[in-house]
Amino acid sequence: MEKIIYILLLIILENDFYKNITTIHNPTSYDFLVNKNNKLTSDYIPDDLEVVDIKYSCKDKYLRHEARINFEKMAMDAKEAGFNIIAVSTYRSYLYQKKLYNNYGLNNGFYYADMASARAGHSEHQTGLAVDVADKSLDYDNFESTKEFIWMKENCYKYGFILRYPKGKFHITGFKYEPWHYRYVGIEIATYIYKNNLTFEEYVITKNN
Ligand code: DAL
Ligand code: ZN
Repeated sequence: MEKIIYILLLIILENDFYKNITTIHNPTSYDFLVNKNNKLTSDYIPDDLEVVDIKYSCKDKYLRHEARINFEKMAMDAKEAGFNIIAVSTYRSYLYQKKLYNNYGLNNGFYYADMASARAGHSEHQTGLAVDVADKSLDYDNFESTKEFIWMKENCYKYGFILRYPKGKFHITGFKYEPWHYRYVGIEIATYIYKNNLTFEEYVITKNN
């Protein structure tokens, strides 16, 4: 049922997703937009990727320097407050994302894949600034029902992260609700987005006007 609703939404919206695409070349800042209309090149690999402390991640998970520092600080503070935040997916290469998207499409149909998985070049995971989290169970699909989710929703902005694909914002972000996916944008921007209840897309439009 959920799949059908999203497919209908996609048709009704007559959206511009994956049209008029802008290419971002070698971004170094922390606040650039990657989505269905803004893509990274196939050879882009951030040059400041660092491994995330295994205390707060699954094996071999990489984030860009500032995102890594702030993620670990957030996970440490959460832990002290009794919450376990674990990074289950972080940086993903262009090729890995391509495989992921294709597998998703083959298993679920490509319409539905486009709601849930980004095409290669269009995934925030290639930026090294996005992280999928879970509690101790490592089951990110179930993250919404955990106490950790409530903590993340209320606190992640203090560490520069935003809930990137909020509920009911599909028509703006192009992706269905992902309670587990957080994007590092820096504390100032994350605070602004949180306090004003914006998506990253809306923030970028506001900033440019
Ligand atoms: N699931 C998110 C949208 C991605 O594939 O990057
Ligand atoms: Zn994600």
